[in-house]
Amino acid sequence: MEICIIGAGYVGLTTTAVLAEFGHTVYCIEVNEKKINDLKRGKVPIYEPQLEELLQKNKEKISFTTDIGESINKCSVIFVTVGTPSREDGSTDLTYLYSAFDEISLWLTEFKTIIIKSTVPPGTNKSMSEYLAEKGISVSLFNIVSNPEFLKEGSAIYDMFHPDKTVIGLGNDDKVSEAILRKIYHRLDAPFIVTNWNGAEMIKYASNAFLATKISFINEIARVCEEYDADVMEVANGLGTDPRIGALFLQAGIGYGGSCFPKDLQSLNYSASVKSVHTPILEAVQLINRTQIDSYIKKLGEHLSLLKGKKITVLGVAFKPLTDDIRHSPAIDLITRLHTLGVDVHVFDPKAHLPLDKRHFATQHKTLKSSYLDSEAIVIATDWPEFRRMDWKHVKASLKGILILDGRNCVDKNVVEQHGLVYKGVGRR
Ligand code: NAD
Ligand code: UDX
Repeated sequence: MEICIIGAGYVGLTTTAVLAEFGHTVYCIEVNEKKINDLKRGKVPIYEPQLEELLQKNKEKISFTTDIGESINKCSVIFVTVGTPSREDGSTDLTYLYSAFDEISLWLTEFKTIIIKSTVPPGTNKSMSEYLAEKGISVSLFNIVSNPEFLKEGSAIYDMFHPDKTVIGLGNDDKVSEAILRKIYHRLDAPFIVTNWNGAEMIKYASNAFLATKISFINEIARVCEEYDADVMEVANGLGTDPRIGALFLQAGIGYGGSCFPKDLQSLNYSASVKSVHTPILEAVQLINRTQIDSYIKKLGEHLSLLKGKKITVLGVAFKPLTDDIRHSPAIDLITRLHTLGVDVHVFDPKAHLPLDKRHFATQHKTLKSSYLDSEAIVIATDWPEFRRMDWKHVKASLKGILILDGRNCVDKNVVEQHGLVYKGVGRR
């Protein structure tokens, strides 16, 4: 099939690579000319494992372009994968979605299936259908389908090849679109969950809210564990063996971040509140997440007494390992807090960089080893594999202090202690 994808971000580029691998011809459209020019030269603007290789492998089947009209004319299917960030009040900013639909509307002369893959609040697929109709476009020229995406950054390609399910939200029991989606994803070995537009939109928000709830739950349990000499890693292990609970997303740490959980929880909260539905669970989940860094600042203060003027190394800038994405990264919140307290902050991340407006908050190093030289303490903020297996002998010899604050419970406590260092984790005994 000939498929158009609007928005060359994390989701759009992954979808482009995977659908091309499935044998489709893909036109990937992006407003940012620099991104498109880079992509045309084979330079991928984000770091995502296997993405560059898969795009390269399928380059004959992929066109990168800013020309939406020409691409839409060639395709019967249009995926919309533009960003849907939060507004100040927690509601979702649909500006990019509307701009994509404005562009699409100019080229709707033949029937197209428009698939909204972006995460959008309940009611949006319906609104977009009405929006096109209000522009005078005949409803016989388009069908809109909700097809939310569940990939995780850092394993996006794997996740898209191996989803748990494909969710399809249809308007008016639209069997035509269902058949088209089944054809597009013919290579997937996962059940199709077919529902209406709002059902699909809600599945996406409920999933992210539930996963964030698991994380805040275990972070809350970690706080209790610390007071009762229990180890949250053992508790999570015990909890996770119960299939009704499940072992995943029970890793205590400095809180969740990223481009999805924070904004999607706010958005769901907002959608509920405008209908006067109270969501105390969602609010508690966010409160725990907002306050999770406090205990690290407290632990550092207890160990080093005065923080002002002390040199401290923060390992990690990205919101999770194996990505360069820094959107809502708890590591950056931590760096900001330490900077505000007058700490001389030094950081290292294998792929991610501090944003321009925060570059003066810390010295970012090119190597791991240079980042902790003469530091009073190391704080692990992102669980990159290279931080798990550090050369602790070198760390001990290079540090001025002895504290290793493992904000992700990702290093072996015993190994660290064997090197004469002091280990503090999250909810550890
Ligand atoms: P992103 O910001 O990385 O990419 C969006 C891209 O769309 C940008 O490059 C932007 O320039 C482009 N764009 C905006 N308006 C455009 C237009 N009119 N025409 C062409 N291009 C346009 O966003 P993302 O992280 O890929 O997320 C996209 C959507 O998918 C969001 O709704 C997000 O919530 C959802 N989602 C993201 C993830 C994830 O892990 N990143 C996972 C699942 C779902
Ligand atoms: C998330 C959802 O998992 C995915 O299904 C959705 O499509 C997009 O949002 P992503 O944000 O890419 O994916 O990464 P994820 O692995 O979910 O991690 C999100 C945050 O939670 C990270 O900051 C991560 O460090 C944190 N996390 C995750 C924990 O603190 N503990 C855990 O056990 C798992």
